[in-house]
Amino acid sequence: MSPPLKIETAINPVELGLRVRLWRNKGARIALVPTMGALHAGHLALVQAARAHAEKVVVSIFVNPAQFAPHEDFARYPRNTVKDRALLESEAPADLIYAPETAVMYPEGFATRLVVDGPAAGLESDFRPHFFGGVATVVAKLFIQCKSDFAIFGEKDYQQLLVVRRLVRDLGLAVEIVGVPTFRETDGLAMSSRNAYLDGDQRKIAGALNAILKNAISQARGSGDLRAAEASAIEALWAAGFSHVDYVAIRDAETLDHVATLDRPARILAAAKIGKTRLIDNMAL
Ligand code: PAJ
Repeated sequence: MSPPLKIETAINPVELGLRVRLWRNKGARIALVPTMGALHAGHLALVQAARAHAEKVVVSIFVNPAQFAPHEDFARYPRNTVKDRALLESEAPADLIYAPETAVMYPEGFATRLVVDGPAAGLESDFRPHFFGGVATVVAKLFIQCKSDFAIFGEKDYQQLLVVRRLVRDLGLAVEIVGVPTFRETDGLAMSSRNAYLDGDQRKIAGALNAILKNAISQARGSGDLRAAEASAIEALWAAGFSHVDYVAIRDAETLDHVATLDRPARILAAAKIGKTRLIDNMAL
């Protein structure tokens, strides 16, 4: 067996830029996988997709304070750099970890923030109004710093994927966005770093979310009454033991606009809480 690869790390844009330029001079295509670490199999599926598009793969690990509200879980967000590094050395080999400090991404006096609308309006923004501005700002910075040919995002965060696609078009950035289907546990629960917050009983309840979305899809297709399908799903989530339901919504798959009928590609999206832990999921209709 060959010894595990030692993966390189860049901790600032200068180190990152040097490495990327060297690769590019040799003709390599480059793919970036932005993450907040605490890597799981869903993240690793993104790294593998990156590998299918490019010879060199950069994984950024940065818990972005700008996308957390003061009352949210920034301080307790799981951080596990040793395990992350091991996974990126053996399970889903990457070529470089980009792990900047907060002060590198947000230098003293930082005063610039992107304002996003369109697909960013509603759904997550109704409950986390600061969120997509923070995501867009950090993602734009990562794109500018890395200058990769591709950037890989999960459909798990479907609204985020659409916001990033819009951002790239609007700012004219030369990066191609690749979306990757959601990686799930055997009971259908979408893998998420936040699943680590769930205790045994909560974990069982969490598994119901995906099954309930599947039922809502069948109901919507069968009856054509999208609002009734959303309402049944909300009721089913309460009945399954969720402590709060933020939304269940069937929307246009490309714009996230409201839809009354299934005459175009649609997506069902949901967010619900078990105790303090907030879970999101979505599926194509
Ligand atoms: P994070 O939650 O770490 O997710 C990083 C990437 O992994 C995102 O594109 C997300 O959609 C994808 N992902 C997470 N769980 C997945 C799953 N079960 N299957 C497939 N893909 C999955 O999303 C973020 O970080 C941040 O907002 C970020 C884009 C890095 C900006 O800070």
